Amino acid sequence: MKKDRRSGGRKLWGGRFGGGTDGEFFDFQRSLDYDFKLAEYDISHSLIHIGALLDAGLLSGKEYSSLKKALRSLLKRVLSEGPGFIVSAGAEDIHSYIHGQVEKEAGAAAMKLHTLRSRNDQVAFDEKWYCLKECAGTALLLDSLILSLKTLSDRHRGSLFLGYTHTRRAQVITFDLYLGAFGSMFSRDRQRLEDYFGRLRVCIGAGALAGTSLGEGSYANALRAVVSGNSGKIMPVDNSVDHVSDRDYIIELLSILSIIQMHLSRLAEDFILYSGSEYALLCLPDEFCTGSSLMPHKKNPDLLELVRGNTGRVYGSLVWLLTLMKGLPLSYNRDMQFDKEPLFGAVENLKSELSLLCRFLPLVKVNKQAVEAALSDKTFYATELAEWLVREKKLPFKTAHETVGALILAAESSAKGIDGLKEEELRRIHPALNRAVVGRVMNPVYATGAGKPASGNKKNGRKPAGFRLPSVRI
Ligand code: ARG
Repeated sequence: MKKDRRSGGRKLWGGRFGGGTDGEFFDFQRSLDYDFKLAEYDISHSLIHIGALLDAGLLSGKEYSSLKKALRSLLKRVLSEGPGFIVSAGAEDIHSYIHGQVEKEAGAAAMKLHTLRSRNDQVAFDEKWYCLKECAGTALLLDSLILSLKTLSDRHRGSLFLGYTHTRRAQVITFDLYLGAFGSMFSRDRQRLEDYFGRLRVCIGAGALAGTSLGEGSYANALRAVVSGNSGKIMPVDNSVDHVSDRDYIIELLSILSIIQMHLSRLAEDFILYSGSEYALLCLPDEFCTGSSLMPHKKNPDLLELVRGNTGRVYGSLVWLLTLMKGLPLSYNRDMQFDKEPLFGAVENLKSELSLLCRFLPLVKVNKQAVEAALSDKTFYATELAEWLVREKKLPFKTAHETVGALILAAESSAKGIDGLKEEELRRIHPALNRAVVGRVMNPVYATGAGKPASGNKKNGRKPAGFRLPSVRI
């Protein structure tokens, strides 16, 4: 291994090169700045790998022990402090960094650490494990978000709300039904994460692309034995060429995250609109709003705007990955190094948004006066009246629809709307109509009574499955 001129570390690939690497190019191709986040998984790869090397007779017991000791002490530090301390090391990437640290601690035994393996295998293993863990973490946050929607709903038990289509007032609904719509979206998202988690396997043993030749298959058998009992999530590769080429699992996770982000953005948009003075249906908590440096009266919904704005970043990550992988020849290509920033960025953004919204949502309040004022407009209950005509007077729905349409048209030219229409005018529209009927049917209590969905936040009774992550004993 050649000493690296810049970092003072050793390259994993220097032997066939006569001179040094161009300094500017070395910096350009380094990935430690972002792949340091894979430290925990990369050390786990090494721990599994040395177990298999030992069983395959490619390491002595003594070599194995000293490698394991070095790896375990580094893993302990990474897990207790977080991997941030690694960024300032000058190494080329996380794999070279860890190798360098093991060399320092374990000396000569470290020369055997890279036997039969390649960074192509390591990086795919690391990223898959990262995706598993972050999928589980995101699902937990989604559970909390669903709970905070439930808390918000419980705090407004029985509250009515305005239902819109085409951003025009449509029908009265309960606040619970409204919030339950978001609950349903996030439950579907959680199911998507659960399905993804159930399918993902973290594979190991691909070599550079062709599997391993040394040890006549005994390394592969040893790998199988080492990973057995690890919740079935870690396993030897099936097709080694595919393993080092595949980034479907990142694209798939980013697709799920993009759908979650789309749902968050819709929630943000609704709450931004409904809390503005034009709608004034919701009041947002001061703690999550900001003011204007010029206009003293402003209270801006910045958290929601940033959540909405994050959509560009999360969708961008998905498009980034799809474009990165398009047309790449088999198998591994260095282009794939650029898969990490979009993955990490989307995961971290999503997790921050979910965590903030969990604390924000229960503090939102419904502006009851504004809702009541809006609900006093009888045109809101046109559909209820049409349905009453069908149920009580046995009118065909189309006739009922036309009848109520005529009522609305007449009300538009009356100064007091529907309330301004006289008995004979109502009777002229349809003999079944009179002021008593209009008063009884065209109001929020009737509209949210019998025949309406009672709750939007009902539990569906299915206990969500747990997320059992693999672990490497240290
Ligand atoms: N930093 C590389 C990546 O993230 C690791 C694999 C490097 N492999 C190689 N053959 N240069 O993709």
